[in-house]
Amino acid sequence: CHIDWDISAAEKGGYQHFMAKEIMEQPKAVRDTISPRIQDGKIVLDNITLTAEQIKGFSKIFILACGSAYHVGMVAKYILEKFARIPVEVDVASEFRYRHPIIDDKVLVLVISQSGETADTLAALREAKKLGARTLSIVNVVGSSIANDSDDVIYTWAGPEIAVATTKAYSTQLAVIYLLAIYFADLLGNLSKEDYAYYVSQLQELPDKIAEILSNKEHIQFLASQFFNVKDVFFIGRNLDYAMSLEGSLKLKEISYIHSDAYAAGELKHGTISLVEDGTLVVALATQNKLFDKMMSNVKEVKARGAVVLGLTTEKNTKIEQEADHTLYIPEMCEMMLPSLAVVPLQLFAYYVASMKGCDIDKPRNLAKSVTVE
Ligand code: AGP
Repeated sequence: CHIDWDISAAEKGGYQHFMAKEIMEQPKAVRDTISPRIQDGKIVLDNITLTAEQIKGFSKIFILACGSAYHVGMVAKYILEKFARIPVEVDVASEFRYRHPIIDDKVLVLVISQSGETADTLAALREAKKLGARTLSIVNVVGSSIANDSDDVIYTWAGPEIAVATTKAYSTQLAVIYLLAIYFADLLGNLSKEDYAYYVSQLQELPDKIAEILSNKEHIQFLASQFFNVKDVFFIGRNLDYAMSLEGSLKLKEISYIHSDAYAAGELKHGTISLVEDGTLVVALATQNKLFDKMMSNVKEVKARGAVVLGLTTEKNTKIEQEADHTLYIPEMCEMMLPSLAVVPLQLFAYYVASMKGCDIDKPRNLAKSVTVE
């Protein structure tokens, strides 16, 4: 008998969309990216030529990328400054190209790109090299232009990512940032043996923590059903949670076409809060314990102006329920790695909202998987 295979369904591993498949592949993708680089409890970045002397000599790190890769750079800024104690500047590649940055061989330019073919990022990389920078790229496609043009490349092992909206590649880029931060910190004498072992063990637990969130999708699906008709959404957060707000906002708008913006929560009162009115959805990210109370006052501020607040925090911070209308919890772990957990509910929320709106999730209008034109 003729089996009328739905080839696309087979390619999607039985999922309705590539994006769903790729969200669910994140534990494996992160494990595949981390495991080869941890041997006997030590981080090994065996294929990079960067020497310890060069790393010790860096006066600055520039991070260049576009879109979600740029959002990884925003997370990386906080982490690399804290662990490597080297000044970090992040710029969107399309802007960097037209600056007059101070660059020499004591500057590391870290380039992040899933496709390795993004025209703006490739052009910025070439500009940085011309100025004499040392370059290291984090790329998901072996042998891509950005990989080939960089002095060093650390590949993410996410596997082919088909959906235009990145998920598993984003998560594996974060994992490489954690590897780099611990590797640099250790090399530069900024980590005790105990702390080094702690962070390495946290990194090894990361895939299972992501899997734990993926096993509880129903609550996120319910929340999406409450909000898929909203017109405006504000994502707010501080420090790493601000960087996560950027990614949560982009995920939602690029696949559901709902207008959303991300703001550093401390910036709200400098103008944007005038847009908050009855029923405006505000997604408040509050995973960083030292900033939790400040985030709660931001939640009160927007609630006072009629906002409906969806809070996202770690599972012990139940007092968020005193202020937020709805809450999403993520498992506890070292704060540096919480972005890898917080992004999963944000990806799923965007996915379910877009699905309920009947959007073309894998191929959103006007978007390409790799922007190879400037
Ligand atoms: C992410 O969901 C977007 N599709 C887009 O912003 C993407 O991150 C950006 O175009 C950068 O692509 P790259 O990682 O392949 O360089």
